Amino acid sequence: MKILVTGGLGFIGSHTVVELQSKGYDVIIIDNCSNASPEVLKGISAISGKTPEFENIDLREKSTVKEFFSKYPDIEGVIHFAASKAVGESVENPLLYYENNLTPLIYVLQELQYKKNVAFIFSSSCTVYGQADELPITENAPIKPAKSPYGNTKQIGEEIIRDACNVQPQLKAIALRYFNPIGSHPSTEIGEQPTGIPVNLVPYLTQTAIGLRKQLSVFGNDYPTHDGTAIRDYIHVVDLAKAHVVALERMLKNNSDTNYEVFNIGTGTGSSVLEVIRTFEKISESKLNYKTVPRRKGDVTAAYADTKKANKVLGWKAESSLKEAIKSAWKWEQKLRKKV
Ligand code: WQD
Repeated sequence: MKILVTGGLGFIGSHTVVELQSKGYDVIIIDNCSNASPEVLKGISAISGKTPEFENIDLREKSTVKEFFSKYPDIEGVIHFAASKAVGESVENPLLYYENNLTPLIYVLQELQYKKNVAFIFSSSCTVYGQADELPITENAPIKPAKSPYGNTKQIGEEIIRDACNVQPQLKAIALRYFNPIGSHPSTEIGEQPTGIPVNLVPYLTQTAIGLRKQLSVFGNDYPTHDGTAIRDYIHVVDLAKAHVVALERMLKNNSDTNYEVFNIGTGTGSSVLEVIRTFEKISESKLNYKTVPRRKGDVTAAYADTKKANKVLGWKAESSLKEAIKSAWKWEQKLRKKV
């Protein structure tokens, strides 16, 4: 069975490709390599022994998308990761984010409307909740006005899919609202490779520890939390990747009585920035060089998932602890630097 993974050379995409291959699926990757290298294909095949088919095309071109689907008529599932994901960059360049995160989604969905029984997974985010009123966050929590164009593209993306599913009963879709993906595959053949200065906490932390960055800045210690730093739900990227396979199979086996569902994918546990730092220090038996600076604009105080729906309906649960996820991130960083 052939599954298309758009953005399949990316951090979460590549880990999902490996999990799909381990379940015997035939994978084809589309990636325009704007934020990932074709080198990742070597890492994928080093793990699975199989190099996925790969097309370096730009999904913002409607005719290109059309040609692709006529070249590969036997695609039965699509996992759509291809998007830009830097919150700060989206504030400076909103139109780039609306173009990059929405037009490819529309063009892919338009091709799927001619096919029967296709399963579609959308890479969404807990960002859609903003600062939720209640914690842990359930899928019924209100969607708050987005604090960034990036977050808005996730909200709009979900609405586009919902409306498409309303008029295309043959289209089955699941939106997975990720919390904070971290870590790397235990083989250290693939992992997180942010281009330039990392925006996210864990890669910046490991790059500081390895000596690539001078010092980690902790954005704010005056939050109303137990230690003053903001709380997030850090989930091992392999657990997150496995959730995509489970969601895909739910649709391929027609196990749902509705054709559009949403699931929170997290561990259900919140960890503060300081707790992440302390965990890393214990793992690496080293002191991390960090300083506290004012809060980052747009950050919420706390976000962690109520995972009961994914546990019960998908039969999926995160298995790795924060410690194991950070350990894998550190192992990956050390290997990356050895290579350089
Ligand atoms: C985590 C915590 C920061 C960097 C975003 C997107 C989400 C998803 C993951 C794509 C916060 C603090 C961070 C640093 C710090 N995006 N921090 N110093 O903002 O929760 O989520 O990335 O998949 O959709 O919204 O993740 O890792 O940037 O921040 O103190 O150098 O770490 O303030 O509290 P975030 P993050």
